[in-house]
Amino acid sequence: MVSVTFVTSQGEKIAAQGEVGQRLLELGQARGMPLEGTCEGQMACSTCHVIIAGDWFDRLPAAVDDEEDMLDLAAGVTRTSRLSCQIELTEALDGLVVHVPAEARDMQGR
Ligand code: FES
Repeated sequence: MVSVTFVTSQGEKIAAQGEVGQRLLELGQARGMPLEGTCEGQMACSTCHVIIAGDWFDRLPAAVDDEEDMLDLAAGVTRTSRLSCQIELTEALDGLVVHVPAEARDMQGR
């Protein structure tokens, strides 16, 4: 199991247990985080945008160019932003802390 803590835009911490190989997006959705994931991991939306807590960002595999391009369109992007559909849980990510931005919503909604 991989322990992940989601931090909501209100600062509430939600502990979650994911499986190795599960996508961070799916785990967040399962715990009720407001991550729409409209394109279901096709890197064609940015509604799965999350902000990775500082220490953890450098431990993730780097984003590919398509992910960077999509992130440019997300609201409230930071230096440690990622698309949660592109992050696969591994044992190395046990303890991961992820902030869920308040701006996460469908692109048409902005
Ligand atoms: Fe659309 Fe992640 S679900 S980019």
